[in-house]
Amino acid sequence: MTRRAYLAGNWKMHLDRGSIAEFCEATSAFPSGEGAPRVGLFPPAVYLAETAAALRGSEIVVGAQTARPEDHGAFTGEVAMRMVRDVGATAVIVGHSERRHVFGETDADVRARVDAALALGLEVVLCVGETLDERERDETATVVLRQLDAGLSGIDGATVAEAVTVAYEPVWAIGTGRTASPGQAQEVHALVRARLAETHGEDVAAHTIIQYGGSVKPGNIAELLACPDVDGALVGGASLDPASFAAIVAAGVA
Ligand code: 13P
Repeated sequence: MTRRAYLAGNWKMHLDRGSIAEFCEATSAFPSGEGAPRVGLFPPAVYLAETAAALRGSEIVVGAQTARPEDHGAFTGEVAMRMVRDVGATAVIVGHSERRHVFGETDADVRARVDAALALGLEVVLCVGETLDERERDETATVVLRQLDAGLSGIDGATVAEAVTVAYEPVWAIGTGRTASPGQAQEVHALVRARLAETHGEDVAAHTIIQYGGSVKPGNIAELLACPDVDGALVGGASLDPASFAAIVAAGVA
């Protein structure tokens, strides 16, 4: 089956009010209509409401980079999933490697966020990926499949197919300029899809979008998207400039 490509920009802790407003205006020139890929933007939390408002009426998905699963509580500085939904965002990234490795989120923390987001009707981009050490110890499959199972096991298949995107982001490729080769990406994407077929059924596996992330640029997106199991990308640095992100989106036109 053909899956509609999904290209998303994770702005991390970059950009500001003015540059985000300009970016949102520039999206009117992005491909739309027949054959156009799905596009997602994940601004810093303080800009979520105005990004969602600026893009309301467009098909662009606006989401948070993380959020806590509890509805309320003494979590100074944090934002709840329900607040993400309240300001008009419809998606959330969960388990990004920076959340796992810089902020110490465990597989159980990730799962609590997946459950809370899905319960609120938010779409989830679940990130998985091995560190360089793990790859060198030949543990890539073990780590990625452990993170995948921890994030999704037992969740109803229809919900996974409808509301979950998996992003394979090898940690050693994030922000390093060192992209996984198409062969390396395809190998892990195929493993992820095969595991989804085992855990959630062939149909769910066939429908689930698996994005690649890690030093995606206008110059390497086409060869990555040419891999049969690479359905899109989660882009950091190259999503900060509208022209560069537009070139990446253009590569996803069917
Ligand atoms: P870079 O594209 O900057 O490597 O970041 C990838 C990423 O972490 C997206 O979530």
